[in-house]
Amino acid sequence: MDLDMKTLCDLGGIEVNTQPFILIIFGGGGDLSQKKLLPALYNLFKLDKLNNDSYILSYGRKERTQAEYRTLVKTSVEKTFKGKKVNIENSFLEKFSYFNGDSEKLEGIDNINKYICKFKGIKKYQIIFYLATPPNLAKNILKLIQNLELCDKPFKKKIVMEKPFGIDTVSAINLNDNLHKIFKEDEIYRIDHYLGKETVQNILFFRFGNSIFEPLWNRSYIDHIQITVAEDIGIGSRGSFYEKAGVLKDIIQNHMMQLIALVSMEPPTNFEADCIRDEKVKIFKNISSMSEEYMAENLVLGQYGHGKIKQEDVAGYRDEKNVSKDSNMGTFFSGKFHVDNWRWAGVPFYVRAGKRLNKKLTEIVITFKTPPLKLFGNTCRDILANELIFSIQPEEKISLSINMKYPGVENYPHPVEMNFNYSKLDTISLTAYERLIVDCIKGDLTLFARQDGIEEMWKVIDPIVKYFNKINFKFPNYPAGSWGPVESRHLLEKDNRKWRI
Ligand code: BG6
Repeated sequence: MDLDMKTLCDLGGIEVNTQPFILIIFGGGGDLSQKKLLPALYNLFKLDKLNNDSYILSYGRKERTQAEYRTLVKTSVEKTFKGKKVNIENSFLEKFSYFNGDSEKLEGIDNINKYICKFKGIKKYQIIFYLATPPNLAKNILKLIQNLELCDKPFKKKIVMEKPFGIDTVSAINLNDNLHKIFKEDEIYRIDHYLGKETVQNILFFRFGNSIFEPLWNRSYIDHIQITVAEDIGIGSRGSFYEKAGVLKDIIQNHMMQLIALVSMEPPTNFEADCIRDEKVKIFKNISSMSEEYMAENLVLGQYGHGKIKQEDVAGYRDEKNVSKDSNMGTFFSGKFHVDNWRWAGVPFYVRAGKRLNKKLTEIVITFKTPPLKLFGNTCRDILANELIFSIQPEEKISLSINMKYPGVENYPHPVEMNFNYSKLDTISLTAYERLIVDCIKGDLTLFARQDGIEEMWKVIDPIVKYFNKINFKFPNYPAGSWGPVESRHLLEKDNRKWRI
């Protein structure tokens, strides 16, 4: 059954404040820039969402000429078109300039100053610093930014910080202190690209825009919640980063925590950034702390060995580039969390995330309680629990499973699905990065994390990292292409439940 959007009112497209900007990307040649940031900037350019009077300066450690950097921009964008021929316009490439330098030695300050001072009427530009760099470089880069004279002109400035924000609670607090020496809180955009995904944003709309669900959204009607962030890719060329982060700091501390908060938070007083962020912080604070005994029973860490993905042989984690041969880093995590408040007492949140799993799948499954009585006599099968599924990847859709009577003389229950699929909407939707860049240019902080939220998320993760650090794992413990270690399946089976997939 399809739920059609009968009429889609004309919202006049995506409005962007057309203020000219100068974007300064640190790590402009890195993996993240190539895969996400540069393609997103190109798509916004094509959609005419970038002011013509906007420029991008990239700063990186590697020596490159301007021409070489523009070629890198071109190939990064082309890769996203997967073999289709595209003609990347020179007017886009000409927006880019490149300077190399080592931020630790504060190199390149003069070049950046000179670059900025050459703009006529500099005051009309907002300057956006974008740190697409690992957390350990943030301190030096901030020092470099602090030393920029930027022509001594008062202009609007902002900073975008990529996750993970710090490496634990203490470093996140220090990083925030350093940031606040230069920027005010409302100039800081801590990015978590999951918040820019359309279906993720829809969670709040769905919950608070439909009066039929909210009364059921609690421990009386919901049996449990499952959240999966599965990827079939490995760590690719990011070995050095991943060896420090692992799945806990790369996914659970940020993307997973945000998904838990959106599903479980109380209604905000309004949809303004701080009201939403206030409610999310309350959830992070309410996630139960766990004893070591609890963690031993209810948390699972895994690391992939070699195996097959889409019939192709792939290497195990320890054989990836820049990974130690006896690495103890987790590439898979699953666990049972609880949100200790009135609404959620006793409702388990089963979460799992990992690399080199069976397929790419990001979804949230809300499983409702089954009806209290079997009214239908001698049925051939049990009534299944209603499930509401927010699919975030590979498809963006929302589906609700309900039980119907199968046609015939017998009383056979039959589950059917009601689906709403974003791909059926005839409208342009922005990718997560495009949306977040637009919001940053406009100055809308709603989809970005706030300092207190970041610190509270770390407080949930720190004890888990500490606990796992003490264990001498026999890794690898799951083959590439599977659904993770067998203990992850047992985690739900112990509670007479199973993962939806
Ligand atoms: C990033 C992680 O934040 O999210 C990557 O650093 C991960 O390791 C990526 O691959 C997943 O994003 P998406 O949008 O493909 O689910």
